[in-house]
Amino acid sequence: MLQKKIQAAREWIRAHSLTFYIETYGCQMNAHDSEKIAGVLADMGYAPAEDKYSADLVLFNTCCVRENAENKIYGNVGKMKKIKQKHKDRIVGVCGCMMQQPGAGEHLYKMFPFVDMVFGTTNMQELPAMLADKLMEKRRSLNVRDDVMVEEQLPMLRMPPPLATVNIMQGCDNFCTYCIVPYVRGREHSRPIDDVVREVHTLIDAGYREVMLLGQNVNSYGKGLEDADFPKLLDAVAKTGIPRIRFMTSHPKDASMAMLEQMAKHDNICKQLHLPVQAGSTRVLQEMNRRYTREQYLRLIEQVRAAIPGIFLSTDVMVGFPGETDAEFRETVTLMEQVKYDTAFTFVYSPRRGTKAAAMTNQIPENIKQQRIVELVALQAKHTYESNLASVGKIEEILIEGPSTKDAGSICGRTDGGKMVNLQGSLDLVGSIVRAEITEAKKTTLLGKLL
Ligand code: SAH
Ligand code: SF4
Ligand code: F3S
Repeated sequence: MLQKKIQAAREWIRAHSLTFYIETYGCQMNAHDSEKIAGVLADMGYAPAEDKYSADLVLFNTCCVRENAENKIYGNVGKMKKIKQKHKDRIVGVCGCMMQQPGAGEHLYKMFPFVDMVFGTTNMQELPAMLADKLMEKRRSLNVRDDVMVEEQLPMLRMPPPLATVNIMQGCDNFCTYCIVPYVRGREHSRPIDDVVREVHTLIDAGYREVMLLGQNVNSYGKGLEDADFPKLLDAVAKTGIPRIRFMTSHPKDASMAMLEQMAKHDNICKQLHLPVQAGSTRVLQEMNRRYTREQYLRLIEQVRAAIPGIFLSTDVMVGFPGETDAEFRETVTLMEQVKYDTAFTFVYSPRRGTKAAAMTNQIPENIKQQRIVELVALQAKHTYESNLASVGKIEEILIEGPSTKDAGSICGRTDGGKMVNLQGSLDLVGSIVRAEITEAKKTTLLGKLL
């Protein structure tokens, strides 16, 4: 029955040359999920549309890690109402992390009757059935379940080469007290090493030159698998011969010497590490349930720099966690001055319903959070610029990604460490690794000259 209906929907979609558009929020995991959703839609016969205004099907793949992301999404979904009033046949769906919070999917489904389908982070394989219901029987669907394993074998419509992302695991078991991710992405599940390696080989055959291995906490990869851990996975992926490998995110509590050894051993593992610190005060870190101290973190940074000299270091850091005193905020500042990250993502703490920290009674007033973030952003901007200045005059290998967004007639790509470089050159070079001299530092990017 269901298969028949899905087949009928397929024929309908092809006969009417229907198009889709996915608007993605949040992290790279979500962006990767959108590639899977796009794959399922393409398999159903949908073609990609230019934008959400012309698409027959618009999906919002949502994020709920901070409140400002959520507000923006409500606003943008709301705007679809007008478009649907003009074009009755358009289909609107909302999916992803935000829908996976208790009651959130139901709430949006009720509040926005023009939304045709709502589904969670693990339900994309049910998309053909939901589409068939809508197209063939004009039925809306609400499909948010968390007991379903994520399907890794879905067809994917990826970004074109040279860069690809590969999921090595799902979920997170860490329960940092501020974070919603473990609630909306479920428990950790690792993919077998062979599966990951097979996918990387397929990517190589399809012309990809760089893979980003994705997990909320890649260092705990392998839990529940036999004879697998992250260093072993790195070794196996490096041996595929793909020219560049990056990974994120690495939790400081589980970063191991064995991982650093693999990074030092293999030329094709990029000399870059994203090591979120979150705060510089041990007391705050404890309240966050991060399970490392300031001193342990700083020691780890020393070990990393000793093992891989010149490594590009980045971090996530937040201000205004409940109870954070001025003195504790200063500890974050001094830690950042000590480490001097090449780049950093700085956040204002945002209470998330259902998390431990949201229930704490010592929330920090908005104006203090604002003062702190302004100071931290300025500090990091200075460090980023200094790091860029230090690159000037160096010869770097750059994987050309595409046309430069800043400058017509030029191309851009990243250094091994991950710095963005703009250079003059032909688009034929996209996908090649070129040698270039860094000639000038901008605030967040570099200029280079092909050699
Ligand atoms: N698994 C990754 C990243 C998860 S979310 C990790 O552990 O590093 C990305 C970043 O968002 C986090 O590192 C954190 O700095 C930030 N973040 C998460 N929850 C937040 C919240 N409630 N308010 C503000 N920032 C938050
Ligand atoms: Fe959130 Fe912590 Fe898990 Fe990262 S490790 S996703 S911050 S709970
Ligand atoms: Fe990513 Fe946001 Fe979900 S950061 S895991 S899309 S809550």
